[in-house]
Amino acid sequence: MSGPIGQLTRGTTGYNRLRRSDRWLVHSPRVRAALQSAADPLVVDLGYGALPVTTLELASRLRSVRDDVRVVGLEIHPERVDAARSAALPGVEFGLGGFELAGLTPVLVRAFNVLRQYDVDAVPEAWSMMSRHLAAGGLIVDGTCDELGRRCCWVLLDAQGPVSLTLACDPFAIDKPSDLAERLPKALIHHNVDGQPIGALLAAADRAWASVAGHGVFGPRVRWRAMLDMLAEQGIPVDPPRRRLRDGVLSVPWDTVAPR
Ligand SMILES: C[S@@+](CC[C@H](N)C(=O)[O-])C[C@H]1O[C@@H](n2cnc3c(N)ncnc32)[C@H](O)[C@@H]1O
Repeated sequence: MSGPIGQLTRGTTGYNRLRRSDRWLVHSPRVRAALQSAADPLVVDLGYGALPVTTLELASRLRSVRDDVRVVGLEIHPERVDAARSAALPGVEFGLGGFELAGLTPVLVRAFNVLRQYDVDAVPEAWSMMSRHLAAGGLIVDGTCDELGRRCCWVLLDAQGPVSLTLACDPFAIDKPSDLAERLPKALIHHNVDGQPIGALLAAADRAWASVAGHGVFGPRVRWRAMLDMLAEQGIPVDPPRRRLRDGVLSVPWDTVAPR
């Protein structure tokens, strides 16, 4: 039998590092529908790193969507699997696996800060291998963030390919939206230049952020919301913000940012 597919990479992780993405998953109508309608609510956290903490946090947060969710943390690094197994809880297991998902058929795969360490050419094959193993209606989240999880970006994919891009940050921790550019997923980071859609989106967000600077007196969350309103008025198809918005979140359909 062949081993897990992928490369061993650095295992950096940390408590609560992926909270913004967890919060988004819990509120995303598409993710909620996928989990709630799944015959088997199995979720894979691929590449959980040196400590299994983000897998345990994901499981606990997703239980608010469906209380019988099962989460399997997969790692390509055998020592990280051995270390994690003692942290297994009811509904949370750990095992050896790579992009082949260890033969599992999950409804949701979360791979955060995994592909970031690969060559850009490896991304399409990794995406398509994970997609082939999804349950019907299944979704993948491929994301990247800084060490403390204050600046995060992720792509949501279904079996047909990328669906959306989301940027999420602590609005108190940025000077301007394009500060998140350094955390763009591998599929986009090299395209953040003039003439490419992701470059245009970040430039439009920076302009809108500057234009609504006056809202900053009410705090950066109010300013972020005003920026989203301005982008929507300009015809950029940003998702409307949730009513009580803690994180600065900017989500657009993939077509808006797909590299030319
Ligand atoms: C930087 S850590 C990310 C940890 C955690 N997901 C986070 O965001 O905090 C990346 C981990 O992914 C693992 N990894 C890399 N490629 C993988 C693959 N194809 N399948 C499973 N794990 C992989 C590495 O061994 C490493 O432990």
